[in-house]
Amino acid sequence: MSVKTTISVIKADIGSLAGHHRVHPDTILAASRVLAEAKRNGIIKSFYVTNAGDDLQLIMTHHRGVDNQEVHSVAWNAFKEATKVAKELGLYAAGQDLLSDAFSGNVRGMGPGVAEMEIVERPSEPIVIFMADKTEPGAFNLPLFRIFADPFNTAGLVIDPRLHNGFTFEVLDVYEGRAVELNAPDEMYDILALIGTPGRYVIRRVYRRPDREIGAVVSIERLSLIAGRYVGKDDPVMIVRAQSGFPAVGEVLEPFSFPHLVAGWMRGSHHGPLMPVGLRDSKVSRFDGPPRVVALGFQVKNGELIGPADLFDDPAFDESRRVAQQIADYLRRHGPFMPHRLGPEEMEYTTLPEVMKKLSSRFVQAEMGYKPVVKRSEELSGEHD
Ligand code: F6R
Ligand code: MG
Ligand code: MG
Repeated sequence: MSVKTTISVIKADIGSLAGHHRVHPDTILAASRVLAEAKRNGIIKSFYVTNAGDDLQLIMTHHRGVDNQEVHSVAWNAFKEATKVAKELGLYAAGQDLLSDAFSGNVRGMGPGVAEMEIVERPSEPIVIFMADKTEPGAFNLPLFRIFADPFNTAGLVIDPRLHNGFTFEVLDVYEGRAVELNAPDEMYDILALIGTPGRYVIRRVYRRPDREIGAVVSIERLSLIAGRYVGKDDPVMIVRAQSGFPAVGEVLEPFSFPHLVAGWMRGSHHGPLMPVGLRDSKVSRFDGPPRVVALGFQVKNGELIGPADLFDDPAFDESRRVAQQIADYLRRHGPFMPHRLGPEEMEYTTLPEVMKKLSSRFVQAEMGYKPVVKRSEELSGEHD
């Protein structure tokens, strides 16, 4: 039987420098020490520690499968050690994403974001790891659709026989905790009907149809749904396999040349463009943003990570960054108005209940000339029977 390799990307915001600007190098060092020891002890095979804005990113390979207790406990300890340093240095929001003290074998549901896939390595196995800051997991819906289902993005869907049979999308309803598998191209309109609401419907995994080989996986943790309150933005990660029967690296990166609007940015309560950046620009300053995404390319060989290549550190993405700046300018001029500010049910910070409470006695019946018939949100989303 072929040996399987697992790629685990586990991330958390455990405190950052200058507000929510970027991870401090000393916390990267603290986490790296924990991972280096885990490598010496044979728990993991290789690792790379980095940051996306204020999120500490642990990229690991091993042979222990997904949701492995030892690997998750290494990640948890790395975040704990990094948090100690963050507290010593007085970094902002130290320990923010570690929502619980009681680690019970798996970091899922405890605050950190997790994307893991177990694969049988091809002779050459290129992967791309995307790490976003100041946004939510549904931010990957649009690019994932374009990578695996849009022939105007991915030429291979049309002209490479190995991609021509299409891909299966596992779409998660993060409000209800249920999932549905849909096939592209035949069910493409149904896929879009769901994933166009990225706050609720999130593409979690993508499989190649004929052999169900996994092509992509996204971290689906939504911090506010875990904690029931605002604690920080989810800042998702994603692993995508490329080449030889999967979209080419260039096809995987191409959708990010369009800086589409995502939810997050300042106070997790605004729409902004997702700006593709190299590692050196993986930090956020304008209105705590705009939201960013970094892409690191690796080869995986015999369970080891070879790389990375900093894929958005390329002048070919300069124009996308410039467009993102223009969109950021345009949106910012809306100040507290939607659609720059998110809708009331999506805002991570709100004073609306207090404002309504304060004003409730001052609202009086008004003559409008018609009796409003307001649709409830369940009806609009098709939930009614
Ligand atoms: C976004 C984010 C920041 C903070 C903002 C206010 O994910 O983390 O935009 O929401 O800086 O932070 P506090 O309330 O801690 O002052
Ligand atoms: Mg933060
Ligand atoms: Mg962050």
